[in-house]
Amino acid sequence: MKAVILVGGLGTRLRPLTLNTPKPMIPIANRPFIEYMLNRLRNQGIDEVILAVQYLADRFREVLGDGSRLGLKLHIVEEPEPLGTVGAVKNVEHLLDNTTFVFNGDVLTDLDLRAMLAFHREKGGKVTISLTPVDDPTQFGLVETDRNQRIQRFLEKPRPEDITTNMINAGTYIIEPEVLRYVPPQQYFMFERGLFPVLLQTENPMYGYASRAYWNDIGRPQNYLDVNHDILIGKAEYTFDGNEIESRVWVGENFYADESVQLVGPLVIGNNVRIARGATIIGPTIIGDNCDIGEDVTIEDSVLWKDNRIDEKATLRHCVVGNSNLIGKRTTITGSAIVSDECMVGPDNRLDKGIRLWPGAQIKAQAISF
Ligand code: GDD
Ligand code: MG
Repeated sequence: MKAVILVGGLGTRLRPLTLNTPKPMIPIANRPFIEYMLNRLRNQGIDEVILAVQYLADRFREVLGDGSRLGLKLHIVEEPEPLGTVGAVKNVEHLLDNTTFVFNGDVLTDLDLRAMLAFHREKGGKVTISLTPVDDPTQFGLVETDRNQRIQRFLEKPRPEDITTNMINAGTYIIEPEVLRYVPPQQYFMFERGLFPVLLQTENPMYGYASRAYWNDIGRPQNYLDVNHDILIGKAEYTFDGNEIESRVWVGENFYADESVQLVGPLVIGNNVRIARGATIIGPTIIGDNCDIGEDVTIEDSVLWKDNRIDEKATLRHCVVGNSNLIGKRTTITGSAIVSDECMVGPDNRLDKGIRLWPGAQIKAQAISF
């Protein structure tokens, strides 16, 4: 079984985290999100995957190679220019033969793909779209179905007055490649605003597969923290790297923590992490490789990527800290603040209220106090 994963978006909403790291490479519990996704696909019977990428293609090649490390065959196909969601699939049509899965590359879900495929075969539609309920459909594609789950209407980013259901396109499709004949080659064309309306008009049957599987779009800052939080507390299926040294505390190789350090799970800690005397780490929290946590530091409900140094008495609470940052003594970072990469935050600062530091930001001592 083959699958196409759409990973061409710019990840604008997740800036500045996506300035150096493409959205699908963003770590979830210390592992690139795309790797989690590829593992899941392989475990559910997909053995060949085409990544439709559009920028930073080399980063994908470096990390994923030909897929053999992950036990599947991987093609990384770069678009000359953005072709849109289904334009990107049309662009790799020569690699497809049969019924194919297509995934939005920024959704974390534990949807049962085999069950969805069985549904697709039973209904005999040309396209099956996975559906999930949300509180506010205006950010998504609204999907109306009839009693037989046949899709009657597809409305991308509906206005509030057009909302008739809370079921939305959850970003996993099964398509029969013949539908690609409606897609003009080498042109920008979207499933959502192009192909689906055309298939409805031409009465090609499309079905909606509703499920209550865990579902979250990682592409928004608040969701990024939520997703990490949710998988650590076990809301979505996930396996963690490292040894579980106490209940729900996973640590990588070469871990050192002073014996006075308090570790309260769930925690996922990478390789070569050092935690000094008096520090308190409260889950759900993720700490990436090579982080150095100073004396009496408090970290709670946060995600730290790699190579960070957090100096003594700093407090990180409900925040994201990217790669290679230096956080000064007694500095406090809270309230969904995002520090991206290679920032130097001097001592005694207070970053709060969703503040975002762009890569390379230098903040002097006591410069910011929210
Ligand atoms: N290769 C390629 N080329 N990929 C693309 C392109 C492109 O031109 N444009 C978007 N993508 C990829 C993005 O990287 C992402 O993985 C996926 O297609 C969806 O694009 P988003 O930009 O994230 O769309 P969205 O989140 O606003 O809405 C989409 O997803 C929702 C579910 O999360 C739509 O499909 C909605 O209908 C849906 O509800
Ligand atoms: Mg998205």
